[in-house]
Amino acid sequence: MGRRGGAGRRDRGLSRRIDLLGEDELAEGEMRMVWVDGDPVLVVHVNGSFHAMQGTCSHEYFELDRGFLTAGTLTCALHLSRFDLEDGEALDPPAELPLAVYDVAVVDGRVTIDVPDGPLEVNEDA
Ligand code: FES
Repeated sequence: MGRRGGAGRRDRGLSRRIDLLGEDELAEGEMRMVWVDGDPVLVVHVNGSFHAMQGTCSHEYFELDRGFLTAGTLTCALHLSRFDLEDGEALDPPAELPLAVYDVAVVDGRVTIDVPDGPLEVNEDA
């Protein structure tokens, strides 16, 4: 499928910045679920960088903070698909769609995401 999460801002339309947590609240090598308007967003801190992505697997509804971080990937604990933290790409079956990843900015010690107005993008297998 050609749909990729986190490709960036759309060319048109408004965007919003969402505060997720303080950068000192999430240690290196850890991840945490943050809820944004009722939707789960997974925040990951690895190799000195923060990543943010949809909080549930693209394969089935399963919360990804129960998974594992390894070498730049996140493994879903239910069926063990791995996802690339940079672009959300699904690296193993059964997941086929990438995770939607969101543009992260650290502003004044806060980890934030810039996303288009409206519901957060989430990729889910039908
Ligand atoms: S629910 Fe994540 S791989 Fe199946």
